[in-house]
This record gives sequence, structure tokens and C-alpha cells, in this order.
Amino acid sequence: MSREIIEIKSDRDIEKMRVSCQMAAETLVLVGERLRAGMTTEEINTLVHKDTVRRGAVPSPLNYHGFPKSVCTSINEVVCHGIPGPRRLLPGDIINVDVTTYYNGFHGDTSATFYVGAVSPQARLVTEVARRSLDLAIAVVRDGARIGDIGEVIQGYAEGEGCSVVRDFAGHGIGRRFHCAPQVAHYRLKKGEENPRLRAGMVFTIEPMINLGTWEVEVDPVDKWTARTRDRKLSAQFEHTLLVTQQGCEVLTRRSVPLANSETVDLLASVL
Ligand code: MF3
Ligand code: CO
Ligand code: CO
Repeated sequence: MSREIIEIKSDRDIEKMRVSCQMAAETLVLVGERLRAGMTTEEINTLVHKDTVRRGAVPSPLNYHGFPKSVCTSINEVVCHGIPGPRRLLPGDIINVDVTTYYNGFHGDTSATFYVGAVSPQARLVTEVARRSLDLAIAVVRDGARIGDIGEVIQGYAEGEGCSVVRDFAGHGIGRRFHCAPQVAHYRLKKGEENPRLRAGMVFTIEPMINLGTWEVEVDPVDKWTARTRDRKLSAQFEHTLLVTQQGCEVLTRRSVPLANSETVDLLASVL
């Protein structure tokens, strides 16, 4: 993956990326609106599957390297790649829902962590650090910056808040393929590691997974997908798909409304 050429998208491809990314963003907004204590992750899967198909699109996760469902649902100590099933959401849970939509030849990928009812201060901390670490990373993306600037800002911020950064999973180039170059580490690169310059027209995800305890994860030996923190402490994640531009970047999966059950609307800002 790492020595592959990083594609520069044409204007035509970028327009198609905008469409699939906006579909993924809208489906994620719908998940936030419907999320309730008592619902199962299977019900989230059905919601995402139906909403994706209704758009004439395909849920990218379904059958991807054998993944059995249409969305990833990762609760509490699950870092990523949680498989929807009979587990019911309980008040106090945090859950990442990761939506990827394939439409007209292109994938769009976005995720968010939601609060189920009132959550512990710890759950709020890890979720807000994950949210902020993505926002800080987005702010350093521009033509001429380096891929390593992303991990630098995420690790610096998250560890300063007493959290850790998962190393086993990375952001990724995206387009006609779900995962391609570049690999986007969310931690500081070692000397000598490949650290390409970002160029306008590159499209990739940033998707930091932030843990309350150890950064180490283990993959479920039975289902071969579910990744959990080794110490079973909480983990949270947010993801956007970005287009690098001369001045900065375009967040292709940007939402036009705040996410219910995750983003708090600033009351004062909404009045002004
Ligand atoms: N959407 C995930 C990502 O952000 C990948 C999920 S792969 C799957 O890269 F097979 F689990 F769906
Ligand atoms: Co991704
Ligand atoms: Co994703």
C-alpha cells in the first residue's frame, strides 16, 4: 500500500466523490436522529442498508473482505469494525457508526461516535478528544503539507489530554477503491518512514481512534473483525473524507446539520 502512487483526482472524479461522500454524510445524520437506547445494532444496520439502497447506492462494507454487514457499529471498548447484531444500546454506551457509501463508481467514508442517553465523564472525555483530534488534523491539511503533520497534531493533542492513539488502523486514500494510498497514520511517524507531501487533488480519510487507556488493540479471534482495546477501556472515533486543495481542504463528508446524539448545538450560536 505505502509505495503505491497517490492518485490526483480529476475534476470529474471529484464531482462524483462529492456525491458519494454527501450520501454517506446524510445517512450518518439519519443514524444520529434514529439512535435510541433499546435499539439493536442490527437495527442500525437495517437503517443504513435501506437508506443506502434507497439512494441507488451500495453499502461498501457488505462483503468487503468478507465483512458480513452493511455498516460497522463499535460500542464502548470496541475500537472499530464492530459487527451489527443482537446487542441492544444501553444508556451510558458510546457507539461509533461508520458509514461507507459506493455510488457511481466512487466510495465516501465517514463515521461518528454517538452518546446513548447520559454518559460518564470518561466517555465524554474520550469522545470529545477524538472529535477535536480530527478537527485539529483537518486544519493542517493543505497542498505542500506532509502526511506526517496529521499524526503529529493528533498524537500531540490526544496524549496531552491523557488519552492514547491507536496504531493498528490508519486513514486511507479513497476513490474508485475503498482503501488505497496514502496510508494516513494518526500517530507521529518514525524517522525514515515514508512521509509524502500532500498535493491538491488527493483524497483520503482521517479517522483517529482514541483510547482512554492503552493504545493496544486485539482483534476478536472468533469473528476476526471486532477490534477491542486490550485493557477494555473506552475508545472513540470520528472520520471524514477530505479533498486536498491549494488553500486547505474540502471536507467532502461535511454535514449541513449537526449530528443528533453527538454534536451539541451551541445555544448562543444558534440565536446569533
Ligand atoms: N469504514 C472503515 C474505514 O473507515 C472500514 C470498514 S472495513 C469493513 O476504513 F469491512 F469492516 F467494513
Ligand atoms: Co475509512
Ligand atoms: Co469508515
